[in-house]
Amino acid sequence: MLTSKELRQKYLDFFASKGHAIIPSASLVPDNDPTVLFTTAGMHPLVPYLMGQKHPSGSRLVNVQKCIRTQDIDEVGDNRHDTFFEMLGNWSLGDYFKKEAIEWSWEFLTSSKWLNIDKKKLAVTVFTGDNDAPRDDESAGIWKSFGVPEERIGYLPKKNNWWGPAGQTGPCGPDTEMFYWKGATDLPPAGSNPATDEDNWLEIWNDVFMQYNKKADGTFEPLKQQNVDTGMGLERTLVVLNGLSDVFQIDTFWPLIQKIQDISGREYVESKDVTKSMRIVADHLRTATMIMGDDAHIAPSNVERGYIVRRLIRRAVRRGRLLGIKENFCDQIASEIIALFGTVYPELTRNKDFVTTEMAREESKFRNTIEQGLKELNKLIEKKIKEMESAFAVRWPPKDPIAKSNYTINAVTPQEAFDLYQSHGFPLELINEELAGYGLFIDAIEFDREFKKHQELSRTGAEQKFAGGLADHSEISTKYHTATHLLHAALQRVLGPHAMQRGSNITQERMRFDFAHPEKMTSEQVKQAEDMVNAAIQKDYPVSWQEMSFEEAKEKGAIGLFEDKYQARVKVYTVGDTSQKAFADPTSPTYSREVCGGPHVEHTGTIGHFKIVKEEAVAAGIRRIKAIVE
Ligand code: ALA
Repeated sequence: MLTSKELRQKYLDFFASKGHAIIPSASLVPDNDPTVLFTTAGMHPLVPYLMGQKHPSGSRLVNVQKCIRTQDIDEVGDNRHDTFFEMLGNWSLGDYFKKEAIEWSWEFLTSSKWLNIDKKKLAVTVFTGDNDAPRDDESAGIWKSFGVPEERIGYLPKKNNWWGPAGQTGPCGPDTEMFYWKGATDLPPAGSNPATDEDNWLEIWNDVFMQYNKKADGTFEPLKQQNVDTGMGLERTLVVLNGLSDVFQIDTFWPLIQKIQDISGREYVESKDVTKSMRIVADHLRTATMIMGDDAHIAPSNVERGYIVRRLIRRAVRRGRLLGIKENFCDQIASEIIALFGTVYPELTRNKDFVTTEMAREESKFRNTIEQGLKELNKLIEKKIKEMESAFAVRWPPKDPIAKSNYTINAVTPQEAFDLYQSHGFPLELINEELAGYGLFIDAIEFDREFKKHQELSRTGAEQKFAGGLADHSEISTKYHTATHLLHAALQRVLGPHAMQRGSNITQERMRFDFAHPEKMTSEQVKQAEDMVNAAIQKDYPVSWQEMSFEEAKEKGAIGLFEDKYQARVKVYTVGDTSQKAFADPTSPTYSREVCGGPHVEHTGTIGHFKIVKEEAVAAGIRRIKAIVE
């Protein structure tokens, strides 16, 4: 078993032997970039030096940097996502460039003196070129000179093989990435590389050739000097080199899982839910401890970084409760984390008292209020169910999925949710978790509006962000707009009535559609939804609209969230046969019915082929689909 300590040491020793000065990890709180909350990559603290300032330790540097990326926080709980990670990196600040960077990467990975990885299990990608920068044949040539065969070199666009800037503007450039084979066979088959066979390769290292500066207007200018920025993910590399299938088994996670097992008396492998909860507790407390243990002394609070810390701790406490942990436990986990990392990041040891005291304080506060808040929330929910039952004269939950959508949304009003949040510190995601137990949902966007209003922030930003999102009314936008209705209806069928729209945005090139769903869609679900939309396009359904009152729209089973609730009459768009009311069955002649201002195509057949290109998280409980029509 290769340990984290050995891997860090080997990396530092190797690059020290190539003339690099070892520098300590910078703070997790960037001091040169107000546009981001945390350091997200090793290059982040080095931006001024990549731009040309002299670094006191010279032009070749190596370190292990603490990093935080929270955009995939909803994914934590699977076998590979985490929010805090360590990045091993070596830098050339206007010193060496592609040849040495690639040569040393290859030597470190494959030499028997260092990681000794089987060359046959490695593949690389290089930048394929575009209007901003040429195809990187130079890097490909260097890889080949070390014996990497052409079939193991993938050529990919900016989306994959370009890195930076870390914020809105700054140093960036093409990169070449190294991947380890993780397919079912011992060795990769002929022709397999990350461009042809993406799912079977895991990226472990990235060499970025930082030679451009991205300006505020989106254009690129050459930097004063040619730099190298590399990043090897410590956690991932430990996973592949030790042949593990679960990142939580590496030695900077496993002792935490063991501690959580001890405290809860549960087993990690007991059930899917237990595994997931333990992973979330371990991940979130590890990240919270790293932030609080930084010399910036960030305590849990309601703003910015402190708010992230608060959310991490509260999510961990909530998961701990699901594991049956009734007493404070977070500070014990924090002590374990500090013991694991204290020699690597001495600031953690320095700040240990601050971390454990603040951690325990936050947990007590949350535990006290959670009980109070839960009582009030449950009272509200019961009242709502009764009200709904009498208003709709049905027993809850209703069978008709569309009735159920209308019925379950805003089960707790944004104002009520906000009150719970304000008086009991109940974040929306906790309210949602509780509601989900009853099959109910709250409108996250309206909650957000309420939240912003109370913070006395300008509402303009929110309105712009959440406005219908039609860039213009040209033909292609109209096609995309109808496609959002088809997708909305498909998601309701594939995932269930909770999968309600939360926002959308359309440009000439693509559509984005945000919707409520608590977890990542499986690839089968994505495929099903895509197929359903294409089937609706092929049927060439007519698209029509009628004006009616809100009540009537509801009766007719129309869905739609962005309406102005106080508007007397609304426009309702129907895709398919207008005479039919329900469309629970995908073969139903009424495919979709939505309250909407338009415009739309007249027949679905004109839309073209619909393709989902990405499904990802945007916020807790909210997913985003990016799709194109061709
Ligand atoms: N900055 C590069 C990355 O984070 C190395 O992948």
